Amino acid sequence: MKTSGKSILITGCSTGIGLCVAKGLSARGYRVFATARKPEDVTGLRELGLESLQLDLDDSKSIKAAVETVLQQTGGTLDALFNNGAYGQPGAIEDLTRDSLREQFETNLFGWLELTNLILPIMRQQGHGRIIQNSSVLGLVCMPYRGAYNASKFALEGLTDTLRLELAGTNIHISLIEPGPIESRFRANAFKAYQRNVNKDSSPHRDRYIAMENRLQKQGPAAPFTLPPEAVLHKVIHALESKRPKIRYYVTFPTWLFATLKRVLPVFLLDKILRIAG
Ligand SMILES: NC(=O)c1ccc[n+]([C@@H]2O[C@H](COP(=O)([O-])OP(=O)(O)OC[C@H]3O[C@@H](n4cnc5c(N)ncnc54)[C@H](OP(=O)(O)O)[C@@H]3O)[C@@H](O)[C@H]2O)c1
Repeated sequence: MKTSGKSILITGCSTGIGLCVAKGLSARGYRVFATARKPEDVTGLRELGLESLQLDLDDSKSIKAAVETVLQQTGGTLDALFNNGAYGQPGAIEDLTRDSLREQFETNLFGWLELTNLILPIMRQQGHGRIIQNSSVLGLVCMPYRGAYNASKFALEGLTDTLRLELAGTNIHISLIEPGPIESRFRANAFKAYQRNVNKDSSPHRDRYIAMENRLQKQGPAAPFTLPPEAVLHKVIHALESKRPKIRYYVTFPTWLFATLKRVLPVFLLDKILRIAG
């Protein structure tokens, strides 16, 4: 395999997709810098035998410090970046505060942009690079009560599509991965964000919130067609190793379905389906 020694920085490796991809790429021979925002998770990752650093996407200093350390350790190069760390802020649009929406964008978009913009000069200098953005089916279509997360992933899709045009001819490839439901801590973390920022008792959406609370707290897969995080790992490997990495990778049947329906259905019909699915 020609992968050995290729370096990659990954965000959000404490659990879920980030952890799976960090372990999978390390086993494949990559030099993985597996980052997490909490010191105890950095310790846990090191105990797994991974090179790990603290990186909190909400904190510019932490992003800069992590990049500096990685570059010191590689001698100033980095082959790839997997932007992954994020969370979902549930809640009806009319219940979202400016602060909760800002927090969602700080983590899911602004931190990703800041990190990417620190890595791009390195990739330009070395003449190659792969950037992989973990977006979502909710970067393609919207579902009720997921407005903050939808907005952050639509914004990510927009930034990434623009960046790809601007990187043409640089030998730096940027790919989007659009998973549907994947086994991880995503729902548990979304529930925490819901508890932090949404007051159901003052909301006209109270009844829907009660159903949502049950879904977010359910043990095991809450949605049909849920896949393990290895399904994302396989696409990451393709985006890293293919001569022609794809612009978009769909993961799970719901992503294929909704992406297709979006192309063929009028919006009012798609809305009907998304209202039921959501
Ligand atoms: N699971 C799904 O169904 C699904 C579907 C589509 C897309 N995705 C995307 O997949 C990616 C990974 O999510 P997941 O499913 O693996 O969920 P997860 O298990 O909740 O993992 C999310 C990771 O992001 C980290 N994170 C959150 N805020 C951060 C911050 N400020 N700085 C650095 N890291 C931060 C979390 O760290 P902490 O442990 O410290 O919170 C955790 O490591 C996300 O971009 C998500 O949008 C997931």
